Amino acid sequence: MISLIFATNNLHKLRELQEITGNTLTVKSLADIGFDSEIPETQPTIEGNARQKARFIYEKTGMDCFADDTGLEISALEGRPGVYSARYAGEGCSFADNVNKVLKEMQGLDDRRACFRCVICLIYKGNEFVFEGRIDGEITLDPSGEDGFGYDPVFIPEGQSQTFAGMPAYLKNGLSHRGRAVHKMLQFLSRLE
Ligand code: IMP
Repeated sequence: MISLIFATNNLHKLRELQEITGNTLTVKSLADIGFDSEIPETQPTIEGNARQKARFIYEKTGMDCFADDTGLEISALEGRPGVYSARYAGEGCSFADNVNKVLKEMQGLDDRRACFRCVICLIYKGNEFVFEGRIDGEITLDPSGEDGFGYDPVFIPEGQSQTFAGMPAYLKNGLSHRGRAVHKMLQFLSRLE
């Protein structure tokens, strides 16, 4: 079975990845390989950040690995927070700070359309491959739901009536930007074997 390191310090993402890949892939965390430094994320695009994170871990370990970078793009905010999704409310901010900033900026706006975009960069046997997943939806007026992370409490994917944070993990993963990007990567890897 192919074994890959997931270049993230985000335990929510790691859990989702392990749920999505099941027993098709061995996904190792940075903790599993004893790596606990910050990973740089300074590029101006989502794809650039995914490549930067994967290259950083590959250069440090020489092992097959992948990284993801995600952005929430809100139509009425001209695509913000986008590549700045992680630190939208400032350095050291919490998920709730980011959510509150978005809700404040969207107060009184009727156009609630948004999408999540996730880019995965895989480095396999020294070669680099990129996969993208996207889900369209809407930003709610208030947060709801207890599960998930990040902007999940304010995002309802199209065709659904509850936010990502209000649905079971298998449902989010079956619809989500990350789920879609991971499935593309898994398909690609299955063709290599
Ligand atoms: P990054 O990919 O770690 O840079 O994530 C950017 C920001 O988007 C962070 O604030 C995350 O919490 C948020 N984010 C990433 N993935 C998701 C998701 O699946 N749902 C909601 N928020 C997310």
